Amino acid sequence: MSTSPSKKAFRVGVICGSQRKPRVGDQITNFILETVQPHSNSARATGERDLSFDFDYIDISALDLPFYDEPGIPSKITPPEGYAHEHTRKWSQRVAALDAFIVVTPQYNWGIPAGLKNAIDYLYHEWKGKPAIIVSYGGHGGGKAAAALRVCLAGGLGMQIGDKMVVNLTFPSRDALYTAAQGQHLGLDAAKEGGMWSSERTRITSSWDEMVGMLVSEGVAKAA
Ligand SMILES: Cc1cc2nc3c(=O)[nH]c(=O)nc-3n(C[C@H](O)[C@H](O)[C@H](O)COP(=O)(O)O)c2cc1C
Repeated sequence: MSTSPSKKAFRVGVICGSQRKPRVGDQITNFILETVQPHSNSARATGERDLSFDFDYIDISALDLPFYDEPGIPSKITPPEGYAHEHTRKWSQRVAALDAFIVVTPQYNWGIPAGLKNAIDYLYHEWKGKPAIIVSYGGHGGGKAAAALRVCLAGGLGMQIGDKMVVNLTFPSRDALYTAAQGQHLGLDAAKEGGMWSSERTRITSSWDEMVGMLVSEGVAKAA
């Protein structure tokens, strides 16, 4: 985060939590990013404050993290030197550099994908206290996965998740669910009125606005 009193630059990690191939998680994560990115510079989002945002797109499948193999417990480790493995140090540095997160997750058997949970569990201090938006998707919006993730992030890691910062996206028809299950093209377009989930964009940008409010008040608290 910038220390300049006039200009504040924040870095936001946008996490695609689905790993399988083919999948729709990447399409949905792009849809979220393309909804949030233009909004993030608007007066509504910034309150006309001098804020800027950089985004780091994190594809869990591209991290190549093995199943948790650190000998220690992350909450007891001083990052990044305290980690035994280079893959953990790299992941630690990437997450530590970020101020906030949007975590996009499918619902797998009422939970979140194992790869996403594995990547989260590797670290502790790098997540702690930071704001996070949860976006889940599924036949009924993936609410069970979102709830499980909320317990993990807010309870386990002390992350800040406000009332508007959980968005559940329901596949609008059985056809759409089958298309998703096959990892085929959903035709999402963040700029198109009347397209799939275009009516969800206000909920997505509202979640962003709540997160920005947290980032700004956190910055004020740190400066005070
Ligand atoms: C292992 C697995 C478990 C699933 N469990 C659920 C579930 O509990 N609820 C649901 O609505 N959909 C479930 N689905 C269907 C997913 O919503 C759908 O396949 C979606 O495309 C998964 O996201 P992805 O393509 O990004 O992996 C499941 C899919 C998989 C692969």
